[in-house]
Amino acid sequence: MCGIVGYIGTKPVKQILIDGLRELEYRGYDSAGIAVLQNHQFSLFKAVGKLINLEEKSQKFESTGFSVGIGHTRWATHGKPTELNAHPHIGSASSVVHNGIIENYQELKNMLTSKGVQFLSQTDTEVIVHLFEYHLKTANTPFEAFTKTVGELDGAYAVLLINAQVDDTIFFAKHGSPMILGRNHENETFFGSSDAALIGKCHEVIYLEDGHYGVATKDSITLYDGQNNPVNLQFTPLSENKLSAQKEGFRFFMEKEIYEQGTVLADTLMGRLRDETVYFEELDPTLFDGINEIKLCACGTSYHAAMVATYLFERHARIRTSVEIASEFRYREPLLAPDTLFVVISQSGETADTLESLKMAKKAGLKTLVICNVDNSSMVRLADASILTRAGIEKGVASTKAFATQVTVLWMLSLTLASERKILQANEIAHQIKLLRTLPSVVAVDNGIHEQLRRLSKRYLHGHGFFFIGRDVFFPLALEGALKLKEISYLHAEGYPSGEMKHGPIALADPELFTIALLPQHKLYDKTKSNVEELSARDSTICSISPLDFDKADDHIRTHYHEDYMLEFFEMMVVLQLLSMEIAVRLGNDVDMPRNLAKSVTVE
Ligand code: AGP
Repeated sequence: MCGIVGYIGTKPVKQILIDGLRELEYRGYDSAGIAVLQNHQFSLFKAVGKLINLEEKSQKFESTGFSVGIGHTRWATHGKPTELNAHPHIGSASSVVHNGIIENYQELKNMLTSKGVQFLSQTDTEVIVHLFEYHLKTANTPFEAFTKTVGELDGAYAVLLINAQVDDTIFFAKHGSPMILGRNHENETFFGSSDAALIGKCHEVIYLEDGHYGVATKDSITLYDGQNNPVNLQFTPLSENKLSAQKEGFRFFMEKEIYEQGTVLADTLMGRLRDETVYFEELDPTLFDGINEIKLCACGTSYHAAMVATYLFERHARIRTSVEIASEFRYREPLLAPDTLFVVISQSGETADTLESLKMAKKAGLKTLVICNVDNSSMVRLADASILTRAGIEKGVASTKAFATQVTVLWMLSLTLASERKILQANEIAHQIKLLRTLPSVVAVDNGIHEQLRRLSKRYLHGHGFFFIGRDVFFPLALEGALKLKEISYLHAEGYPSGEMKHGPIALADPELFTIALLPQHKLYDKTKSNVEELSARDSTICSISPLDFDKADDHIRTHYHEDYMLEFFEMMVVLQLLSMEIAVRLGNDVDMPRNLAKSVTVE
């Protein structure tokens, strides 16, 4: 995903910008650029591909003395990854970098084009710089023009803008995309879309809030809120230790990764949702031609995401779908039909069994697609097509945000297939898209629920085992909940379809058998409830997770009301992640690096 850096000071600006961008590289990008303003003159460099290309392009450029600069790594959303589409975008005497999406860009572009403005790129971002220059013609100051510009933008943005009239100044604004402002004892000012770009350079920072905008010069910083009221500058110290700073105040990477799922899912959805269609720019429209069946293949958590997809693909797109554990698939001499799309799912893109299965499918002549978090990984390079999940680096060995992004992509893909195959009507797809748009807020951690989980975790540290149970997509979620708990608490846990308990597992029921019951309001509530009652009647200790009261539970975690079962799925996912983490914390385990496990399993 895109990254932003900015600098005001006297050190060699090019290196500072490129070093900052390098710290954001992990987010993935396909082009990069910098703009430097010194003595009212601009120097602009852009390159497609990795930062090394940008370094080569700007090789001869050196600056001494005071300057301001802005830099950007771009992950293409509107328009292909070309040099023209790379940021910074320029007007006649201004330059801008932007993360997010300007939703009303077409409207603004039409207005500006009618006034004779020429656009160079296909991006939404370019409207910002031209709108600014348009307002500059009538404004008393460049800052007034910037304020007007920001007031007319709809959507999500983090913006830095520089203008040749004021060559000691960076204008900035934040709404829905992160932006951090930092300074140090050497009177330097920095901007970054993540504090990774600022660690070691600044001693204190302000994490800008939505609606914040302002102006930074070599002598001052002025900040306003969304109601145009001045905001007192309240800096917080920035850790110098990269590792603890990257945890951003959370106890573990896993906790941080659970909490950042809202931001991450906004990235996953970005540029992919239209009013009535889901749009994956990276997919060739012919990919689904001649396809009558889908086979998904993965390991561990990614396998659970694949299981969710079997329900969604068949339900939404009425296409035959099956799922395989990669380590089994490889050796069971499977029959593969040529009209099957083979989809592998992997956070790392390097898991040996999944990679080998992908090779087998290719060899058998199947079309292949990978859903992956790591660009340029072995699977991304090998598959015919790829969709990146945009989860950012996941450090906790127990996967959390990677799973959330995988399921989100698969849900979107089910809708792409549904419209390709003309199964769902446009209004039904529009409704699903409306639901998808709410995901970032659905997965935001509810502090009350987290506190409740912290307290009740003390009752779940012993016993002879856990059953996580659910139906439909809540069955793979139950499997995932059990896997999370196993991985970091080292307690025995199983996931089961709730209807299957009476076929054997219920024999284990007693007070020392803990049942974690997923009881969504909108998917088979009564059926699941009966299964949980059967366990309760046999004195199993029940912890129910539901928006509806359940009087047979020993503990009840009340989730919020949602209008659809998939939204309930995502909130329950967060509850299960936090529950496992709090149990592991109480047991004193290493949450981020549990025993015996590796983040990327490159052996079979
Ligand atoms: C999940 O918490 C685990 N770390 C593990 O099951 C993981 O999902 C599995 O090893 C597959 O990895 P991949 O997604 O990188 O292919």
